[in-house]
Amino acid sequence: MRTDTPAAIYRKDYTPPSHWISTVEMGFDLDPSATRVATRIVFERNHAGSDRTLTLYGDEVELVQLRMNGKALAKRAYQLEQGVLRIPSAPDDVVLEIETLIRPDRNTSLMGLYVSNGNFFTQCEAEGFRKITYFPDRPDVMAKYKVMLRADKRKYPVLLSNGNLIEQGDLGDGRHYALWEDPFKKPSYLFALVAGNLICQEEQIKLQSGRKALLQVWVEEGNLDKTQHAMASLINSIRWDEKRFGLELDLDRFMIVAVGDFNMGAMENKGLNIFNTKYVLANPRIATDVDYANIEAVVGHEYFHNWTGNRVTCRDWFQLSLKEGLTVFRDQEFSADMIGTDSGRAVKRIDDVRVLRQAQFPEDAGPMAHPVRPDSFVEISNFYTVTIYEKGAEVVRMYQTLFGRDGFRKGMDLYFERHDGQAVTCDDFRAAMADANGRDLAQFERWYDQAGTPRVSVTTRYDAGAHTYEMTLVQSGASTAGQEEKRPFLIPVSVGLLDGKGRDMPLSLGDAEEQPTTVVLELKARSQTFLFRNVMEKPVPSILRNFSAPVVLEYDYTDAELAFLMAHDSDAFNRWEAGQRLAMRRLLALTALSQSGDALQVDAALAESFSATLNDGELDPAFRETALNLPAETVVAEQMDVIDPQAIHAARRFLRQSLAKSLRPSLLNAYRDNAVNGPYSPDAASAGKRALRNLSLSYLGELDDEEIHALMQKQYDNANNMTDRMTALAALANSRAAGRAAALARFYSDFEQEPLVIDKWFSLQAMARTTDVAAVRKLMKHPAFSLKNPNRARSLIFSFCNGNPFRFHAIDGSGYEFWAEQVLALDALNPQVAARLARSLDRWRKYAPALREKMHAALKRVADSSRLSKDVKEVITKSLA
Ligand code: PHE
Ligand code: ZN
Repeated sequence: MRTDTPAAIYRKDYTPPSHWISTVEMGFDLDPSATRVATRIVFERNHAGSDRTLTLYGDEVELVQLRMNGKALAKRAYQLEQGVLRIPSAPDDVVLEIETLIRPDRNTSLMGLYVSNGNFFTQCEAEGFRKITYFPDRPDVMAKYKVMLRADKRKYPVLLSNGNLIEQGDLGDGRHYALWEDPFKKPSYLFALVAGNLICQEEQIKLQSGRKALLQVWVEEGNLDKTQHAMASLINSIRWDEKRFGLELDLDRFMIVAVGDFNMGAMENKGLNIFNTKYVLANPRIATDVDYANIEAVVGHEYFHNWTGNRVTCRDWFQLSLKEGLTVFRDQEFSADMIGTDSGRAVKRIDDVRVLRQAQFPEDAGPMAHPVRPDSFVEISNFYTVTIYEKGAEVVRMYQTLFGRDGFRKGMDLYFERHDGQAVTCDDFRAAMADANGRDLAQFERWYDQAGTPRVSVTTRYDAGAHTYEMTLVQSGASTAGQEEKRPFLIPVSVGLLDGKGRDMPLSLGDAEEQPTTVVLELKARSQTFLFRNVMEKPVPSILRNFSAPVVLEYDYTDAELAFLMAHDSDAFNRWEAGQRLAMRRLLALTALSQSGDALQVDAALAESFSATLNDGELDPAFRETALNLPAETVVAEQMDVIDPQAIHAARRFLRQSLAKSLRPSLLNAYRDNAVNGPYSPDAASAGKRALRNLSLSYLGELDDEEIHALMQKQYDNANNMTDRMTALAALANSRAAGRAAALARFYSDFEQEPLVIDKWFSLQAMARTTDVAAVRKLMKHPAFSLKNPNRARSLIFSFCNGNPFRFHAIDGSGYEFWAEQVLALDALNPQVAARLARSLDRWRKYAPALREKMHAALKRVADSSRLSKDVKEVITKSLA
């Protein structure tokens, strides 16, 4: 029981380890209720280390035996306190033999070694290895591993670990063994083992160098018809990294294993990636277009970690974004390249920025705000955040914006030349980028050190006589907990100027000779003015093209200018952005009307711009879809000083309804014209058509009339893929259609055997407009519901608390009471998952007093529990601070 305030760990306190490790040998006798682990570690003194105390960490492991250099270690020769085992004055050369006993079947935290559906899996990042054995479980201690697995042959016919299979055979007593050896040094967080009844799809491929590699995707029996897309994505990832970065797979064998119980998306264990089934299994019957795209992205992400994360790893966990930000950037670029078209790349960019704004901006403005490289944490698991991942990726992207693709590649090459095989810091990455491009990037460090989303305010002045156009940029950093004042960032601001016909003007800036149509202004001071010459007419500026920096841009556009940009900007991102700004203005005005009790009304201008976009056959359907999608309720919320979820919901719904009314004929045309015929394929062009068609259906659904009900029903009945089926079902679920209940029931019975589809069924209902807390409680009683399976818990509880703001923020506070209950119930099972849910009330201080007080009470209720995990305690303490 922990009732004290958990202690923080500080980045400034980093000290190198007392000893390095050369080799680790492990033997596992796998048994769900009593697994024995024998570990032999060969240490050698690190002369740069500060002292001789050998420090090992353990968590909920029973220490059976401890031997040093061949002799049992006397109790007085070591200290064991709160999971830390210290051997003071250890010799230079130490061989430790450790035997531990663990209970995988009781492990509901899904960290360390656990059982899922009768099979064994491990999860060691960040600090799960210490749940297997006592170990210097820190990423800068790297070692070569040899692993012997022994288990019942009938129950666990497949035995996998990192690296190469050296030997396997029978043990005679119904048990068998497999011996694995990983030729590469790695930190303990990349260790993995899998044992169970699994089958695989495999393929031999030839790498760029001519070497052969064996690729495998392992799943439970019955899922072999769902591995094709993951395998194809893996092969594409391998090819892409060879081509774009000259990085080749360094192993003879690369495995992906799918598991139904998993805390996160997937894990990049060396040569043995372990994946949440959600990011592996797909066929047209069960997976949507978004699922297909996510699988490709996550398979890519984990594969790319093999270089950015595994070959070069993190010195300490404060450097987490070194591998995550960089690897997200790489997977984003991979996905964009896989689509291939300019318009497809832009849509991908827009999707990524959407995530940033919807999730990361609020985080960066809330109580858990932290820099891309945090200064301290209590529980590292709480720092696998959108800031580390998505903002981290934006920071990496800025190097590419500043230096171009070639310059970025030079920096990457130098990074690997210098650091292959090492555990390094974000500074090392920045230095490689700086040195490879001959630039001083000292100021750029602030992107790693300062939290909060910076604002850039722009003003312009056109001088018709001198033909000059002045652009003044002023930056200000948002103050965040513990960082009131911010020093100026180096912000790349990509800019173009449009003439009266909407064409890009050639730009003359400074004394540069060439006249590009897009320039990257480097904003370094708090305020800077840039002068464009030879500007023959007053332009409309297109600022922050392609979202060149993770900032909030303020510029006083008129509605007419926004409509103009939406119609003409050559930069597809800013075309989209202009539409979003126009829509946001309407949404905020409508929200205010709703709050004051006035009748909601909106002018025709937005509908006209939307109509032009919807009917522009020159535009890619995928782009049209994203352009017509209104900002999410949570994004509107961030624009308000005091958040009023009910008013926002009313405003957004009203705007959708009025757009549907005025665009009805065009929406029906778009619906008809974008039908995709023939067998299902998840390619970007087909997916884009489906997206536009389904967006049209979803708008039309707002009309809630019989003609539209029939359309939904027909689409549901005729769907040959999950994308169309889910959209139709969601539309029905949000309507008063007669077939609503029957469709939900039929969907359930058709897909009862597919857990990932049942997750969708729960999640769709959790987010439906009609679903209140009572309805969620009822769904929790459904026999298919379980709190123990993270995907299932997320599908219902998280979807409701985070994805249904209108109902979750019910004015009676019932949503918050439900939230508190679920955080506590989950925390008893799985602290990591509970701590994620605990974040749902992060922004409580921003709400109107009536809601705020009820949120505060719910937070207090959780805080007052006497048995909180460190994970949840940190989140709640910071929320209340
Ligand atoms: N390192 C994993 C990834 O980003 C995420 C992860 C973290 C998975 C912790 C499990 C536990 O790819
Ligand atoms: Zn990652």
